[in-house]
Amino acid sequence: MSRDDKFKKVISHAKEYGFVFQSSEIYDGLSAVYDYGQNGTDLKNNIKDYWLKSMVQLNDNIVNIDSAILMHPKIWKASGHVDAFNDPLIDNKDSKKRYRADVLVEEHISKIENKIHKEISKAKKRFGDGFDLEQFSTTNPRVLGYTKKIKEISKKFNEALEKDDLKNLKKLIEELEIACPVSGSKNWTDVKQFNLMFGTKLGASADSATDLYLRPETAQGIFVNFLNVQKTSRLKIPFGIAQIGKAFRNEIVARQFIFRMREFEQMEMQYFIKPGTQQKWYSKWKENRLAWHLSLGMGKENYRFHDHDKLAHYADAACDIEFNFPFGFKELEGIHSRTDFDLSSHEKFSSKKLKYFDPKSNESYTPFVLETSIGLDRMFLAVFSKALCEEKLKDGTERIVLKIPKILAPKKIAVLPLLKKDSLPELSKKIKEEFKWEFNTIYDEKDAIGRRYRRQDALGTPYCLTVDHQSLKDGTITIRDRDSMKQERMKVEEIKLKIRAELDIKSWLNS
Ligand code: GAP
Repeated sequence: MSRDDKFKKVISHAKEYGFVFQSSEIYDGLSAVYDYGQNGTDLKNNIKDYWLKSMVQLNDNIVNIDSAILMHPKIWKASGHVDAFNDPLIDNKDSKKRYRADVLVEEHISKIENKIHKEISKAKKRFGDGFDLEQFSTTNPRVLGYTKKIKEISKKFNEALEKDDLKNLKKLIEELEIACPVSGSKNWTDVKQFNLMFGTKLGASADSATDLYLRPETAQGIFVNFLNVQKTSRLKIPFGIAQIGKAFRNEIVARQFIFRMREFEQMEMQYFIKPGTQQKWYSKWKENRLAWHLSLGMGKENYRFHDHDKLAHYADAACDIEFNFPFGFKELEGIHSRTDFDLSSHEKFSSKKLKYFDPKSNESYTPFVLETSIGLDRMFLAVFSKALCEEKLKDGTERIVLKIPKILAPKKIAVLPLLKKDSLPELSKKIKEEFKWEFNTIYDEKDAIGRRYRRQDALGTPYCLTVDHQSLKDGTITIRDRDSMKQERMKVEEIKLKIRAELDIKSWLNS
């Protein structure tokens, strides 16, 4: 299956099974804004919970806050967002469509990467088990040619971005003969900077209304509360403040489903440290965050670090954890060494002291900050797209299954009476009542049992408990595993122990 086909399947499955809907769909939708349905909301909450537990509950020195979306407008001046939170945009003069100039180049590189991907898939098929990826990638002339091309483009691209050289960015687009995806035309305007913040107004009358912005990141709500939290919690450096919340960006290009949205959610943590220790904490948090991702068992080969060549205005080091999405490796999470930029700047703009008094050394200083920032919606897309599989079964039939990490699955258990008679529904409902206190459990009696298994597979439910005539006699029920499809007969108490063990967060995070 091509990457495009896979991505289309991800989007349609998300809609068909109640995970993600286009926002305002009955009014033809709102571009790059999405709603989460009944199953999507459960999955999203489970991701939040997994992040929060590992970040806050398991760390004695990290606390969680929930700051307001609307903040004083000076905050965005101090943070640098008013002046520097821009993306380079370019218009196509014929189609009148607007694009992000950097994304046009990135997509061009992705197309070349796809060609490499195709060569590798073909060779894998040809050589079977004897295929050696390392050898093939370093000797195949076509792959070598494509790799060289990518390096050349990336060099020019990074130089233009680093220097904010918009003229050279346009020159590169022309050199690569990039055409407008809609019209096929190569008739481009100059590249301009575009500020991504959404403006809004506070106040009832037009004259006295204050101009505000919807926050483009949750981080600033943490910085401006740094002293409130430090003083009331009495935390000593190093310590962290975490937050999950909405962020808003008026993205120029918004074509990749929930990958790039105009309203999205971030899970961020700012770690306040002693100046000079940032390199140590940067390495530590890179390691911690990768370990968190790997604990979900979605394949080590699907993650890679990407160091930033062009650093944001606040950072002295930064990297992304990239994930292998259906459209290739793209940023999932950012890890940024933010220096003392934010706290110093807020000190200047607010004229309030934001210093930390270190009782050990008897000195006051402005802490440095190490940030981890992951998009909740991107994490959702990573989990969902990796989980979606089409499997050929031994009997020749096919099944669609969402192999979501069991700890994140929206519903954990489906209780199914084998037949809709002979008191099986009554016993099933009783069993459902028993499980629902501990696990998100549903009851389903519609259709033949095979179809119900398929429905739960497609929803990603890890366990189906089937109640049959033997259950009436000896109280045993069968438990069917979503991934292996194996069925075992057990007592209710044994099933509880098994599921508890398999969903134990300690085992997941220590795996
Ligand atoms: N506080 C730092 C910050 O906001 P960022 O790299 O701009 O850094 C962090 O964003 C994360 O937020 C990204 O790694 C991505 O997962 C997510 N993100 C950013 N823009 C997004 C968008 N338009 N739609 C969905 N997620 C987005």
